[in-house]
Amino acid sequence: MRTKRITVFASGSGSNFKTLHQSVLNGEIPASITALISDNPKAGAVTYARSQNIRTHLLLPSDFDESAAYTQKLESILSLENPDLVVLAGYLKKIPDHIVAKFSGKIINIHPSLLPKYGGAGWYGMRVHRAVIENGEQESGCTIHYVNEIYDEGPIIAQSHVTVNPDDTPESLAKKVQQEEHKLYPRVVRQLLEE
Ligand code: GRF
Repeated sequence: MRTKRITVFASGSGSNFKTLHQSVLNGEIPASITALISDNPKAGAVTYARSQNIRTHLLLPSDFDESAAYTQKLESILSLENPDLVVLAGYLKKIPDHIVAKFSGKIINIHPSLLPKYGGAGWYGMRVHRAVIENGEQESGCTIHYVNEIYDEGPIIAQSHVTVNPDDTPESLAKKVQQEEHKLYPRVVRQLLEE
């Protein structure tokens, strides 16, 4: 059987990307991560991809001048990569509707809250954890969902919960949620590829 192909999108430090790649290397995920797509040349994800000889497609600001050009660029990269699964791991730009429609059911994202809470445009990173603490939530967690045309609103695939303790800070909560992300994402990617 042909090896399944994963394309990862990441704009940041890339800890989820690294964890997924380690899971490929140790055999937990039966697939190959053939490419990283990033809009941030300074991202830790890009440094890691290069160190591991994972093909890296950098989207430059000029690619975003017109959204049609951005869509075309993404479409040509994805046609080349021909992924079975597209995994968003901290990618901050919106995936154009045309790409979402073309890869319907094949694009997944991870979000650091229990969606639908603290999701949508503008909810990312420490903003989420700060709000969770400020609102006195007793639990938080992470959500993996299919990507549709609306930010963070696609069908939920899996969630992992963490307890918010009275002495938690946004930073300590972020760490707990990240640990859950690193367990949940490889598990879900594996399941989806086996379906
Ligand atoms: C994660 O918290 C994820 O939920 C969100 O972006 C963050 C990416 O972190 N979508 P990292 O770059 O994988 O460390």
